[in-house]
Amino acid sequence: MTRRVTKAIFPVAGQGTRFLPATKSVPKEIMTLVDRPLIQYAIDEARAAGIKEFIFVTSRGKSALEDYFDHAPELESSLEKKGKTELLETLKSTNMDSGAIAYIRQHMALGLGHAVWCARRLIGDEPFAVILPDDVISGEVSCLKQMVDAYEETGGNIVAAMEVPQSKVSSYGVLDVKDDMGHIVSTKGMVEKPDAADAPSNLAVIGRYILNPSVMNHLNQMKQGAGGEIQLTDAIAHELTEGRDVYGLRFRGQRFDCGSKAGFLQATVAFGLARDDLRDEFSAYLDDVQSIRRAAE
Ligand code: G1P
Repeated sequence: MTRRVTKAIFPVAGQGTRFLPATKSVPKEIMTLVDRPLIQYAIDEARAAGIKEFIFVTSRGKSALEDYFDHAPELESSLEKKGKTELLETLKSTNMDSGAIAYIRQHMALGLGHAVWCARRLIGDEPFAVILPDDVISGEVSCLKQMVDAYEETGGNIVAAMEVPQSKVSSYGVLDVKDDMGHIVSTKGMVEKPDAADAPSNLAVIGRYILNPSVMNHLNQMKQGAGGEIQLTDAIAHELTEGRDVYGLRFRGQRFDCGSKAGFLQATVAFGLARDDLRDEFSAYLDDVQSIRRAAE
């Protein structure tokens, strides 16, 4: 019997330098895809997977994130007075229950593994999820829900996985596959950001994890890995050496790398086209852009 996964860690301490100057005053996670901040997509995905406790690992300059999750009574009552019920509902859907969110500061940028470790006391001895909000995943069933379902069958640790071009493996954690069972693979190792020539496969880790609490013990050792950082990948790989399993789940859904500008733009187009209220106008515009480009060629 596996324990239920009800806690999720959201590492949001990064400086977001790839999005300067915007991120000079706006946390990257507040940047919007259409009209919802990146973090809202991550929260909705976690909620759909049954997560009840949301742990944010933040840093200086991220207070806009805390404000975002506060109730906004003045705004709510003004929308109510004006009879703007639809907007009111949209606003209320972002409200979080009292006590459901905790914020922990990562005082030094020592890597993703360190950020996760900062939440160890709130995790205790329970399995937990980690969601990297930069990776936005759309699909019929929330990616984390797919992972929770898989976890209930397999136990162990599970990471979201996706094939990437060989030329891109050095940007990811990469799985060393033991048994490929189709949508789930078991692993015999994991390497953070390998050179393309040394990568054990092109099956990359995408930013969703369900982890055993013992991963925190490995992080306690504060070992530096790729890029001189304390890597979550290394701590997960350590699980294998202690006889616990690590699986990769090839999730169903489309993943957008919103940590890169091109990925963010692609997500904006995809989410814009997916919206009933925008689709017609937006796709007509995209058609126009294409025909103008073709005419210019
Ligand atoms: C992090 C992880 C990496 C994973 C990636 C997914 O890297 O360290 O293992 O493949 O997220 O997006 P980052 O993109 O933060 O450098």
